[in-house]
Amino acid sequence: MAVLEQLTSQRAIELENKYGAHNYHPLPVVLSRGEGVYMWDIEGKRYYDFLSAYSAVNQGHCHPKIVNAMVEQAKTLTLTSRAFYNDMLGKYEKYATELFGFDKLLPMNTGAEAVETALKLARKWAYEVKGIDENEAEIVVCKNNFHGRTTTIISFSNDPVARENFGPYTKGFIKIEYDNLEALEEVLKTNSNIAGFLVEPIQGEAGVYVPSDGYLIAAKALCETYNVLFIADEVQTGIARTGRLLATCGNCSCENKTCSGTPDVKPDVLILGKALSGGAYPVSAVLANNDIMNVIKPGNHGSTFGGNPVAAAVAIAALEVVKEENLAENADTLGELFRSELNAYIKTSNVVKLVRGKGLLNAIVINDEEKNNKAWDICLALRDNGLLAKPTHGNIIRFAPPLVMTKEQLLDCISIITNTLKAFE
Ligand SMILES: Cc1ncc(COP(=O)(O)O)c(C=O)c1O
Repeated sequence: MAVLEQLTSQRAIELENKYGAHNYHPLPVVLSRGEGVYMWDIEGKRYYDFLSAYSAVNQGHCHPKIVNAMVEQAKTLTLTSRAFYNDMLGKYEKYATELFGFDKLLPMNTGAEAVETALKLARKWAYEVKGIDENEAEIVVCKNNFHGRTTTIISFSNDPVARENFGPYTKGFIKIEYDNLEALEEVLKTNSNIAGFLVEPIQGEAGVYVPSDGYLIAAKALCETYNVLFIADEVQTGIARTGRLLATCGNCSCENKTCSGTPDVKPDVLILGKALSGGAYPVSAVLANNDIMNVIKPGNHGSTFGGNPVAAAVAIAALEVVKEENLAENADTLGELFRSELNAYIKTSNVVKLVRGKGLLNAIVINDEEKNNKAWDICLALRDNGLLAKPTHGNIIRFAPPLVMTKEQLLDCISIITNTLKAFE
């Protein structure tokens, strides 16, 4: 079979099923092109993207500025490894650290790698700065977390599908309830070996759980009291998705939507991925100040591709797009509109229980007591009606379109969604 052979959707699905590992259960649609908020399938049907590759494509598909930066850099220099300096990495590190307000950045590729990096950083800081005895450091995490798929990360997941038969698991993690300050204080108060508290500002994969107002601010304050690093995993919530540049800033009263937060909610360690590249390339990063990041010495950590010139060029362009196109503001405004329209619909609905979220990271909860896969069927019907979304955890459908969406496009999407839901009432 020639690589350039034109496939039908059915053939493409057959090929993946036969030759690919079955580690995903995709919605049956085969996409071959994307632009802005749209994607097209092989047969040329157009869809609104309402997932954005799990919030990686915040800047819209194939954003010309990002693609251009990638192509130009790819023609010039792609990879040097960190054995040598390259002329792009420092520029990117300066740009990103200034934007997010940290001293230093450690570049990686995927979200899970960045989370691993943050965990290693927190442990090393705990031994070398905080003074915890060797191998005794613990990291507090939240129930129903999602931080990626590596062996260490699944060790502190409580999703049985992600964990089963992948043991033995990595030790050194304590799980507490999400959005529960008493639980956090209790563990910090009674255990002097805590290095860090790893938290998602909104639990995305779990079903877009938004914590109570003030939770992150108070959690950060507790971490300060007990000399524990507050580690924010903003891989999914970051880069304007929730209506602020970072979701950790959405918890303060500051009106500047591109600011990186008031000091009381500023994480000690910030983890970014996904939309850091606008979905064009795998780019992730960990940011921290010198007192923390300086524990990392040559040879402690790294990645052949982390910080490569293409990643650096793409990330600068992707971050510039967020600023130039006011994506945080747009996500904020459109998110309010989305939830208010959906709430109006839900008042008369037997199918949808509620809508929740922040900015353009939202989810609806489907009334499916009988566990009949109704959310999946609704997503199939949405697909037929020209909008792509995916259930998460059974009866929850996440709605996360690219942030370059216009108000008119969003209203069009809302009518597709409500008309589709009506057919299930
Ligand atoms: C909060 C969070 N952290 C980490 C990850 C892992 O990112 P990646 O799939 O790029 O490894 C994800 C992915 O969905 C995520 O939502």
